[in-house]
Amino acid sequence: MLEGLSVARAGPEDFEDAAAFYRSVDRDLDRVASCDTILLARLAGDVVGAVALCFAERHLVLRTMVVREGLRGSGIGGALLDRCVEEIAARSCWLLGFGDLIAFYSRVGFAVVPEEEAPGPLRRRLAAYREHEPPGHSDSRGGFVVMRRPAADEA
Ligand SMILES: CC(C)(COP(=O)(O)OP(=O)(O)OC[C@H]1O[C@@H](n2cnc3c(N)ncnc32)[C@H](O)[C@@H]1OP(=O)(O)O)[C@@H](O)C(=O)NCCC(=O)NCCS
Repeated sequence: MLEGLSVARAGPEDFEDAAAFYRSVDRDLDRVASCDTILLARLAGDVVGAVALCFAERHLVLRTMVVREGLRGSGIGGALLDRCVEEIAARSCWLLGFGDLIAFYSRVGFAVVPEEEAPGPLRRRLAAYREHEPPGHSDSRGGFVVMRRPAADEA
């Protein structure tokens, strides 16, 4: 892990930094502002990555995992994911991801699930992504995949 990297839950005092980070990576904080949990990775105080855990109806969903360009590939995403799994704890959790990140998410117990098995809110979001994405964008990332981390008490 990078020296000086910290990952922590965002509190009200982090709002401005989080909003500035999301803007800098072309994401919109409003989309995750109502989320249960936002985790921020900071390096020397600067926000360099974020991920959110949200409820979609009654389903817990990991959303908007992003690391600042130029710092990717140095373990920040992995550190955010490890912290996310601590927050998820024994609960089941879903995500919509890119196919090129299957190994990234599998490391902490997510597995690909047929998209017909995804809860309604995820299927609707997947349909919206497909409708609005730039042509060929997800193809270059291995398509979209639905993944789920089972609850601890599932067989
Ligand atoms: C995905 C992302 C958050 C990963 O963060 P990161 O800091 O680069 O991740 P790490 O450095 O911890 O890398 C973890 C592993 O995932 C792999 N990985 C990361 N991005 C990858 C990609 N696009 N394709 C294939 N493998 C990838 C790394 O090679 C690394 O593998 P290794 O442990 O075998 O070396 C970051 O690349 C990012 O912000 N990408 C753009 C936004 C995005 O795609 N978000 C995810 C939406 S589902």
